[in-house]
Amino acid sequence: MEYVVTTSNLTRKFGEFTAVKDLTINIKRGEIYGFLGPNGSGKSTTIRMLCGILEPTSGSGSVLGYDLARDPERIKKKIGYMSQKFSLYDDLTVYENLNFYSGLYGIPRREKTGRINEMIAMAGLTGREKELTANLGGGLRQRLALGCAIISRPAILFLDEPTSGVSPSSRRMFFKIIRDLSREGTTVMVTTHFMDEAERCHNIAFISSGQLIANDTPGNLKRNVITGCMVEMEIDDPLNHIQHLESLPFVRECSVHGAALHILLDSRDKISSLEEFTGFPAVEITPTLEDVFISLSKAHRQ
Ligand SMILES: Nc1ncnc2c1ncn2[C@@H]1O[C@H](COP(=O)(O)OP(=O)(O)OP(=O)(O)O)[C@@H](O)[C@H]1O
Ligand SMILES: [Mg+2]
Repeated sequence: MEYVVTTSNLTRKFGEFTAVKDLTINIKRGEIYGFLGPNGSGKSTTIRMLCGILEPTSGSGSVLGYDLARDPERIKKKIGYMSQKFSLYDDLTVYENLNFYSGLYGIPRREKTGRINEMIAMAGLTGREKELTANLGGGLRQRLALGCAIISRPAILFLDEPTSGVSPSSRRMFFKIIRDLSREGTTVMVTTHFMDEAERCHNIAFISSGQLIANDTPGNLKRNVITGCMVEMEIDDPLNHIQHLESLPFVRECSVHGAALHILLDSRDKISSLEEFTGFPAVEITPTLEDVFISLSKAHRQ
């Protein structure tokens, strides 16, 4: 198996606080590797270590065969990175931003114009080359930032919450580009809080308080993490019922999903007891990824 990222007990402390603890992961070539976890769980810290920007406290790792501790400068040149706050220059035009990044990555002059035009087309920015970046909407800014990150045609791309704050249609368009890059062999590590995006990753690693607590395909996570019977119940004022429901002996977990509750029962034969107790019908469902993550987070906290 060809791994483009490997880490072994990768750890980062800030003073006494451990932000990432003993993280061991492997990422295959061409894979879209989703990196999920609650706020402050250590996603950005991990990505910054893998990009050669932040030094690990202990443990080891390599990216594209380069060692994180010994070769961070070479890693920085070889990868593409879109940070949580995209680094675009608002006072430059679309074209000028791409031109700046092509210079930064040392793209030869004869290739420059071709690459810039390719990125403009990829980002759907044709005709807006001369527009000031400050005037672009969220989705276009995001795709321009992606263009800047991949203008050097990196073999691996690190995306830290690339789609926060953009419209659902822009998010879908962005993920389509990610899928195309992956199909062409680019490896992509991406953090996101959106479950529809997580669903489209080949593999999902989930961290909580700096520790890896699950790592598998979306399908396997949905099949294997939750044991018991998950039901959905439409009920008035769902938040108000959680505590009461969770105190029932056959209810393991209960969480709000829009206007409905997802309730995890010990087994299918408890559905009737639940319906009798609440007076509302309950329908068995396949757990969603969100259910999986709620369950994992709860288990980890306890
Ligand atoms: N430079 C730093 N100095 C001190 N603490 C830091 C530093 N950078 C991150 N932390 C802390 O490390 C923890 C992990 O932060 P990190 O930014 O990696 O989380 P995250 O998973 O990316 O969160 P979010 O989803 O909000 O982006 C947090 O508690 C954060 O406050
Ligand atoms: Mg972050």
